[in-house]
Amino acid sequence: MKENSVTDIYSLALHIPPFAPTDSVNDVATQLMQTEYEAVLSVPIVQDGIPVGVITRFQLNNIFMKNFGRELFGRKPVAEFMAKSFLAVDVRTSVAEAANYISAKIRSPLSEDFVITEQGQYLGLGSVLALLGAMERQVAKNASELSSAYRELKSSQAQLVQSEKMASLGQMVAGVAHEINTPLGYVKNNVEIVQEFVVQLRQMHTSHKELVDVILSPDSNDIAIAEKLAELDDLQNMIEPDILFEDMSAIFNDTNYGLEQINELVLGLKNFSRLDQAMTDSVSINECIHSSLLIAKTNLKNRIDVIKQLGDIPKIACAPSQINQVLLNLFTNASQAIEGEGKILVKTWADEHNVYISVQDTGKGMPPEVVAKIFDPFFTTKPVGEGTGLGLSISFQIIEQHGGRIRVASEVGRGTRFGISLPRQRQAVKTTQAVLAEA
Ligand SMILES: Nc1ncnc2c1ncn2[C@@H]1O[C@H](COP(=O)(O)OP(=O)(O)OP(=O)(O)O)[C@@H](O)[C@H]1O
Ligand SMILES: [Mg+2]
Repeated sequence: MKENSVTDIYSLALHIPPFAPTDSVNDVATQLMQTEYEAVLSVPIVQDGIPVGVITRFQLNNIFMKNFGRELFGRKPVAEFMAKSFLAVDVRTSVAEAANYISAKIRSPLSEDFVITEQGQYLGLGSVLALLGAMERQVAKNASELSSAYRELKSSQAQLVQSEKMASLGQMVAGVAHEINTPLGYVKNNVEIVQEFVVQLRQMHTSHKELVDVILSPDSNDIAIAEKLAELDDLQNMIEPDILFEDMSAIFNDTNYGLEQINELVLGLKNFSRLDQAMTDSVSINECIHSSLLIAKTNLKNRIDVIKQLGDIPKIACAPSQINQVLLNLFTNASQAIEGEGKILVKTWADEHNVYISVQDTGKGMPPEVVAKIFDPFFTTKPVGEGTGLGLSISFQIIEQHGGRIRVASEVGRGTRFGISLPRQRQAVKTTQAVLAEA
C-alpha cells in the first residue's frame, strides 16, 4: 500500500509568505490579520529560505494583551518572541510519520502548526487539524481495504472448502461405484442362473403337458404313456427339481442381500452428499457416523476392523453434511495412517452440555512437531495427489462454527485419537471472523 506523503495531502496549499526575523511584531500582526489563511495559527519566520522559528497567534495575542504591549513590544523584531524549536516536517515524510513526530513534540495542540520544508528550505505551513483529517482519511481507506481483503479471503476460503468437498466427493463416488459393482456383479450372475433354471422348468412343464395330453387322448395306450413317463422321469433325474428349488431359494436370498447392499450404498451416498450447508434441527450424530463409515468403507474393507461404541445420545442441531465431511476426513486419515491391518474405534457419548465423538486408530501416529501443524491449511505429509492438507483445517473451522471443539492426542507407533465436542443446545453459527476475534 502506497503511503501518502505530506505533499500529497497538503499540495502546499498552506504555503504562506514567511516573515524575516527582523520584521517587527506589529508588522507581523497586521499582515496576519489580512491573510486569507484563517486556519493558520502560526507564522513562519524564515531567513535565506531556511526556517528559523515560528510565532504563534497565541504568542502575538499575549504580547498585545500586556499593558502597553503594542507600544512596548510592537516595534521589536519578531525574532525576540518566536519559538526557535518549532516543528518542521520534510515534504517526503509520510503522513503517519509526520503524525508520530508531531504528536511526540507538540506543546500546545490547538495553537501550534508545523513548518513544511524540503531539504531544509521553507515550503509552507501545515495545521495539526489538517493532518488529523488526513490521518482519518487514511484510516478509513485502510479499513475499507482491509474489509475488502477480508471479503476476498472469505470467498476464496469458501471456494476452497467447496472444492475440497467436491474432491473428496469425487473420490468417494469412485469408491462407492466400485463398492456397488461387487453386489451388482453377483446379482447379475444370479439372474442368469435363474434364467437357465427357468429353461429347465419349462422343459419339465412341457413334458408334463405332453404326458397329460397322451393320457387324455382317446387313442391313448399303455406304451405311449409309459414312453412319456420315462421321458419325464429322465428329465426329473437330470434336473432334480427339489435341489433346483432349494438352489433357487438360496439364489433369491443372495440376490436380495445384494440388492439391499446396493440400496444401502445409494442411500448412504444420498445422505452423505446432501450439498446443502444448512443447519438442521434434530440430527443424529450416530447416523452421521453410519453414513460416513458406509462411504469410507472402500478404504477400510478387509484391512481395518471398525469397532463402534455408539452411545444413546440426543439429537442435536447442526449442519449434517458438514459434520459428515469432518467424519469422513477423520476416517480417511485414520485408514491412511494404518499400514496393513489395524483398528478404528469410534465412540459417542453425551453429558448435559455436549455430545462427544472420539475416533481412535492404531495407525502410525504423529510426532509433536507434526501434531502442532495438522490444523494448518495445506499442511500434509502425504505425497502430491494423495492429500491437499485441507481436510483437518476445514474440519477445525466446521467444528468451531458449530460452537464445538476438536482435539487430538497422538503417539508415534501407537496411534491417534481425535476428540470432538458439539454443544447440545443450538448455537448461533459463528462467523470465521468471530472465531478469529475470540482467538
Ligand atoms: N489419524 C492420523 N494419524 C496420523 N497422522 C494423521 C492423522 N490424521 C491426520 N494426520 C496428519 O495430519 C496431516 C493433515 O491432515 P489433513 O486431513 O488436514 O490433510 P491430508 O489428509 O494430508 O489431506 P486431505 O485431507 O486434504 O486429503 C496428514 O497429512 C497427516 O500427516
Ligand atoms: Mg485428510
